[in-house]
Amino acid sequence: MPDRPALLFAANWKMHLGPGETREFAGKFRAEYAPAADRETWFFPPAVSLEAATAAFAGLPRTRIGAQDVHWEPKGAFTGATSVFLARAAGASATLIGHSERRHVFGETDEETGRKLRAALAGGLQPLLCVGETLEERERDSTAAVVNRQLNAGVRELDSAELDRVVIAYEPVWAIGTGRNATPADAAAVHAGIRRALMGLGASASRILYGGSVNATNVAALVAEPEIDGVLVGGASLDPEGWAGICSVKRER
Ligand code: PGA
Repeated sequence: MPDRPALLFAANWKMHLGPGETREFAGKFRAEYAPAADRETWFFPPAVSLEAATAAFAGLPRTRIGAQDVHWEPKGAFTGATSVFLARAAGASATLIGHSERRHVFGETDEETGRKLRAALAGGLQPLLCVGETLEERERDSTAAVVNRQLNAGVRELDSAELDRVVIAYEPVWAIGTGRNATPADAAAVHAGIRRALMGLGASASRILYGGSVNATNVAALVAEPEIDGVLVGGASLDPEGWAGICSVKRER
């Protein structure tokens, strides 16, 4: 069996942890976590904590700091927004794109998500594109259609080299912050569909994470699935010791 890519553990802190708390978190996390060649840890703090996170995690191998959202315009009168350039200036090397809270709480459209994705690639930020269906869409058996629509809106104008740079997170909306999550087999089936779609568009490699109520108890079963290349975690990434434990989980073969 060919070697799998390094497992990716991504922490989405949402609207939690200011600069001081970020430094405190990093100190505790670094005391607990032993970096290893077969895993990466990425942190998506709030924009005000990007610089603190960049400094506090500096030197930790295979770590990235990322923004939670970016605007597609390079600069201008966009109150409250962060451009790719500003995120990079604060130390970010990655960004979430189209997180379900951006789509469903802030009303971001597929079209806007696509513009953000292209801006991130053009500006040198590693994008992590989030896709996933709502409960209503799942109950209508529309999971594959919704995920494909969101994926296509994001990636259809990209060439193969750009496609290979995009990491995908499949996060069913009904599983986010609810304590419910897809079974590893259900998630793996959706991942396989996403991978087929990406290959059909010309990708040669793809990394697909699962997200939605991932925690210390369920993470091992998820990453044991060959289709699951890592996890994107909200609530359970806010505790430094707990997060270090999740990032250290062994992958069963
Ligand atoms: P959760 O959030 O782990 O708290 O469900 C995941 C996410 O929104 O990325």
